Amino acid sequence: MKAVLLMGHGGPEMLRYGEAPDPVAGPGEVVVDIHAASVNAADWKVRRGGGRYTLTRFPHILGRDFSGVVSALGAGAVDLALGDAVFGVTEQGVEGAYAEKIAIKAAILAKKPDHLGHGEAAALALTGLTALWAIEDTAKLNAGETVLIQGGAGGVAGFAIQLAKHIGATVISTASAGNHAYVRGLGADRVIDYNAEDFADAVSGCDVVFDTVGGAVQVACYAVLKPGGRLVSIAPAPEGFKPTRRDVTTLRPNVLRDRAHLERILALLEAGAVRPPNIVHYKLAEAVAAHRVSEGRHLQGKLVFDVRRAEPDTE
Ligand SMILES: NC(=O)c1ccc[n+]([C@@H]2O[C@H](COP(=O)([O-])OP(=O)(O)OC[C@H]3O[C@@H](n4cnc5c(N)ncnc54)[C@H](OP(=O)(O)O)[C@@H]3O)[C@@H](O)[C@H]2O)c1
Repeated sequence: MKAVLLMGHGGPEMLRYGEAPDPVAGPGEVVVDIHAASVNAADWKVRRGGGRYTLTRFPHILGRDFSGVVSALGAGAVDLALGDAVFGVTEQGVEGAYAEKIAIKAAILAKKPDHLGHGEAAALALTGLTALWAIEDTAKLNAGETVLIQGGAGGVAGFAIQLAKHIGATVISTASAGNHAYVRGLGADRVIDYNAEDFADAVSGCDVVFDTVGGAVQVACYAVLKPGGRLVSIAPAPEGFKPTRRDVTTLRPNVLRDRAHLERILALLEAGAVRPPNIVHYKLAEAVAAHRVSEGRHLQGKLVFDVRRAEPDTE
């Protein structure tokens, strides 16, 4: 099969479009012919390496979420059938979606409805799962609460804004000026241009902060929470940082992979509560360019590989 191979840790040039062995379905697994795979911030973090992102074996196939069609069944994979359109996210610590095929546990996939494109499903899988675990399972956001969602134009935050509005919260978000219309369109009640205004001066008394940016932004988030507030973060704090406020709770969601959360994404779509993000499409052979954009950290929505689109050498 064709795949994007990470040849070693380093810059985007370490990604090579080439050949990899076809995967085989183990017990309880299916092989999915991937139609679309999305780019996540984690991908370029793994590509760079360091700390928990350090790999010991190369070549390595990156990629965590995808959508495609079941093409082989392993022993005991009884709840999916050949030809089923499915989408999902690899298990924690496992990757391999930048490829034409993947072998994965059937139980952590969900069936993709016809009205949802493969690209949209791939774009929604990990972002939706992360936003659900963060906002519903971890923050336990309630109707009537005020939530500040940092980095509103990003993949995870974009889903989280819509989910928070659906729950009935007041949503404040941050974005650079060029992304304000997009973030308002997702449902944010107020958007702060973090380049023009210090959000910590502009906001106070939040019940919840969902931080998808990290670093100094995360440190400053503590000031905007009311006593008893919850800070939920999916991005790293500065090394050695210890929160000084004792009257707020710091939480990190454990983004488990399961069918139930994927089906919850579908239910929210069906109810009209969320819609897919803006998507910029790439071919698999364009992984270097896609990584450069993702790593620039000013994305609006998601980058998705159309895996089955004709590659440059066959056009
Ligand atoms: N723990 C988990 O399971 C998990 C899962 C998924 C993601 N993550 C992590 O969560 C983070 C976000 O992921 P993502 O995929 O949503 O990112 P993304 O799609 O790459 O988006 C990053 C966004 O951050 C915004 N941004 C950059 N600097 C900002 C600042 N100072 N203030 C406010 N917004 C800022 C950018 O928009 P502007 O142009 O408007 O600045 C951009 O839209 C990453 O660190 C990722 O690794 C963790």
